[in-house]
Amino acid sequence: MIGKKMEKALNEQINAEMYSAYIYLAMVAYFESENLPGCANWMRIQTQEETAHMMKLFDYVTERGGRVVLKAIDQPPKDWKSPLAAFEAAYEHEQFITGRINKLVDVAIQEKDHAANAFLQWFVSEQVEEETSADAIVQNLKMAEKAPGAMFMIDRELGQRTFTPPTQEGA
Ligand code: FEO
Repeated sequence: MIGKKMEKALNEQINAEMYSAYIYLAMVAYFESENLPGCANWMRIQTQEETAHMMKLFDYVTERGGRVVLKAIDQPPKDWKSPLAAFEAAYEHEQFITGRINKLVDVAIQEKDHAANAFLQWFVSEQVEEETSADAIVQNLKMAEKAPGAMFMIDRELGQRTFTPPTQEGA
């Protein structure tokens, strides 16, 4: 049975992952309106990933005998001033989520909830990937600012991204 403090903290993270899905979905709409279908595709996959993160937490709380309580999701921004600004915002958001995951691990340690700590390690590793992939695109877009035609190439590349659902065990 999960402790009340851990249950509350995981419920808050369920909301944070839903907001992540929501902000990236807002970016899908932004990129579609900018006629950048590849960037929109990348964000579409990101939205699916965040939904999978949320469900992973949802199922874990339930499996541990806790109760999921859904809260209102904040409204995300509508526009960004450039594709670079949108990906910079995505990168900053992932850094924020990493901080939240680290705090969840702190709660698990304080509560001596070793099972939750082990479960959360998947998210610790996932956040390394999340930050790396967003930052790589930020760097490419910065270089593209000086090279005509580069945006077209980047958009085409981001259009190749596909969704791989996380497995039950992790990964
Ligand atoms: Fe669910 Fe992008 O971290």
